[in-house]
Amino acid sequence: MCRLFAALLVGLFAPLVLANTEELKLQNANVDLSNRASLQHGAKLFINYCVSCHSASFMRYNRIAADLGIPEDKMKQNLMFTTDKIGETMTVVMRPEDAQSWFGIAPPDLSVVARSRGPDWLYSFLQGFYADEKRPTGVNNLYFPSTAMPHVLWELQGVKRPVYHTVTDDMGKEVQAIAHLEDGVPGRLSEAEFKMAVRDLVNFLVYLGEPAKLVRYKIGVAVLLFLSLLWVVMYLLKREYWKDVH
Ligand code: HEC
Repeated sequence: MCRLFAALLVGLFAPLVLANTEELKLQNANVDLSNRASLQHGAKLFINYCVSCHSASFMRYNRIAADLGIPEDKMKQNLMFTTDKIGETMTVVMRPEDAQSWFGIAPPDLSVVARSRGPDWLYSFLQGFYADEKRPTGVNNLYFPSTAMPHVLWELQGVKRPVYHTVTDDMGKEVQAIAHLEDGVPGRLSEAEFKMAVRDLVNFLVYLGEPAKLVRYKIGVAVLLFLSLLWVVMYLLKREYWKDVH
């Protein structure tokens, strides 16, 4: 009965939810965990642009080096700023108290953000910044309105400008809404290059959320092999036991 009621509720409200999200579609991140070069590039971007504010405290530098095939000396030279021991976790450069007073909110740990927000949201969010003088950071975000996070990748992407159009809201009133973003200040990368960079970064965040995924593919094959061997042994054993009975 309860279930029927729940199903009815979902049926009733699903169209509403769809209608709301339709306006702001998430872009498909299409990440590929088996692409090592992409993961390595993502790690580099993450360490250069994100760990100054965000930690990833469930992850150790030597684990990344081993999983992504980065030699430890290279990792130490190029990719470690916040710590000098390779066995340490990815802590943040800034003190949480300072972050709180600068941004009004401490930047959250990003270890499992790919699981809470999903890759498509991250991919869209990181491309969704646009100029907005009303915000203390000078930017706003399509997917996270009034976010306290500055546009840290602006050098790469440049700064986009919003283009408005008039729409009628639910109450029948005419309001201004953002139709799309257009190029403002140019960045170092082209649109396509920036998309690739963000995809690599999101790929790395997905790995960060579940590093065991890379190992699990291998374990799966081993388990199946083990089970088939076990089956053969069991079958022979059964034949041996039942020999005298028949
Ligand atoms: C200058 C500091 C700073 C840097 C550098 C920075 N962020 Fe942030 N970030 C923030 C702050 C502050 C918030 C909290 C925003 C809020 O809640 O309004 C945030 C929030 C986020 C969120 C949303 C988390 C959630 O679920 O609410 C994501 C995702 C994120 N950052 C990703 C990144 C990535 C990826 C990078 C590197 C490219 C990065 N950030 C670099 C300050 C920073």
